[in-house]
Amino acid sequence: MTENNTKFQQIATSTLVPERKVGVKLYLRTGPERFVLFINESSVLTNAKIDQLHQNNVGQLYLDASDRQGYLAYIKENLSAILNNSDLTANDRAAIIYDTASDITENLFAQPSTESIDQTRNLVDCMIDSISQSPETSNLMMMITNQDYYTYTHSINVGIYAVSMTKKILPNISETDLKTLGLGFFLHDLGKAKISNSIINKKGPLDQNEWQIMQEHPAIGADLACELGTSTPEIIDIISTHHERHDGSGYPHKLEKEKISLPGKICAFCDVFDALTTKRSYKKSLSTFAALKIIKDETPSHFDPELLNPFIMLFGTN
Ligand SMILES: [Fe+2]
Repeated sequence: MTENNTKFQQIATSTLVPERKVGVKLYLRTGPERFVLFINESSVLTNAKIDQLHQNNVGQLYLDASDRQGYLAYIKENLSAILNNSDLTANDRAAIIYDTASDITENLFAQPSTESIDQTRNLVDCMIDSISQSPETSNLMMMITNQDYYTYTHSINVGIYAVSMTKKILPNISETDLKTLGLGFFLHDLGKAKISNSIINKKGPLDQNEWQIMQEHPAIGADLACELGTSTPEIIDIISTHHERHDGSGYPHKLEKEKISLPGKICAFCDVFDALTTKRSYKKSLSTFAALKIIKDETPSHFDPELLNPFIMLFGTN
């Protein structure tokens, strides 16, 4: 069957889990503009069907672009099984994690709920499992970070950078502890979900009143995380301290030096770096080099000098 007037999008067959239902129609491409139905939305993708793709060396299937949300829901629900597939290329694995993270965190900031926090936790767990199995995933994800600033893309980018930096500084950290810190990094700006969009998206500097409201986001985020059932001290600590600065000039508590926890300091580096290297309607993005130069210049006033080199080293291969 050939479908006309349909915009098709490619998906990797390595994202298909045997004996599960994808829930959207999938097509085979048989010519430049020819697509034939492979499986419909109500059918389970059997092992035999997947073998058929392997035997014919089919690495890509296609879906109607309007079914993309349905496909993303399938990915979210089966994320762990999909990422465990050894046929998945490192690039596809990194892209699946990033796309799923975008979908989940966009929902989280639009409507924070216990369910969206649980989805974020599952995502962070799957991401850290993937990094443990294939360390290159971490570098690849750092390379595909979105350069357009939104609160949710910023949260993902900071999460990815901060997990990598934590692994560099604490190479023997347990996976369980890294998962806890990882969720804290992803949720560091959760409080912004409760701040008016007119302040969050303001095209230009904030006035004094707006700035005061903005400075409340660490406390609002910590309260919200507890309200939604995430009161783990390490997570609350990251949300509460990511704007503290080494010389005590940060907010909300003007903590300094060793009074700021290691994860709070790590989050501060990654937060500022991502803010500098992403673009907003009123400012261009800086290059990695220019951003690292600013962070270096702001050390030791804003950042812990002992962490500067491990942070810079993160970008050594990019
Ligand atoms: Fe923040």
